[in-house]
Amino acid sequence: MIENIADSSVGPDLDRELRQLLVLCFPDTPQFREHRHYLEPPRQRWFIRENGQLVGHVCLHRKTIGSTQGDLQIGGIAEVCIRPTHRGRGLVHQMLHKLHEWDKNSDFQMLFGKERIYHSSGYQTVHNPLRYFDTIKQEWITQTLEGTMIRPAIKSNWPAGPIDLRGPIF
Ligand SMILES: CC(C)(COP(=O)(O)OP(=O)(O)OC[C@H]1O[C@@H](n2cnc3c(N)ncnc32)[C@H](O)[C@@H]1OP(=O)(O)O)[C@@H](O)C(=O)NCCC(=O)NCCS
Repeated sequence: MIENIADSSVGPDLDRELRQLLVLCFPDTPQFREHRHYLEPPRQRWFIRENGQLVGHVCLHRKTIGSTQGDLQIGGIAEVCIRPTHRGRGLVHQMLHKLHEWDKNSDFQMLFGKERIYHSSGYQTVHNPLRYFDTIKQEWITQTLEGTMIRPAIKSNWPAGPIDLRGPIF
């Protein structure tokens, strides 16, 4: 069963389970050893439990970004992960379906990932230059990031030109 919870409501037990899954699935991301988010806490989390064990997770950031067509509301998707023993069963697709149903007020959803994983969930690659805050260099950077993908939600015409994330990547 897929459950969802506001990040602010996550208690200590679920926090521990989430961090264990995130460390397992993202061994090169040291942040997850310290806390359950990458750079910023998300708004909402979805997870799948099987036989009591956490096997899948995805989270959503609510963001207002700048574009050549004015501000856009986006659902920024992050920390997509499936326990290695449970991969290849379409669990990502199922969790994203629930997330899309919940995230009805966003103009688009956006994520950084591989097209082969997300194409079947409605995502397409875009090549806009992105302005974002690099938390390591502590400076604003504008560049095209490989793997930037969007899914049309309320709006369908993704703008050309630069996109201002107004904060770090997610
Ligand atoms: C990426 C990850 C979440 C995929 O999990 P999964 O359970 O295999 O995903 P699903 O079964 O839901 O498959 C989703 C799609 O990705 C495709 N896919 C998944 N792994 C693939 C691979 N190694 N090679 C090619 N396609 C792959 C599936 O075929 C499916 O496509 P389809 O719907 O068009 O048939 C999982 O491998 C993982 O947790 N990896 C470590 C963390 C990570 O890299 N997360 C992604 C961050 S962007």
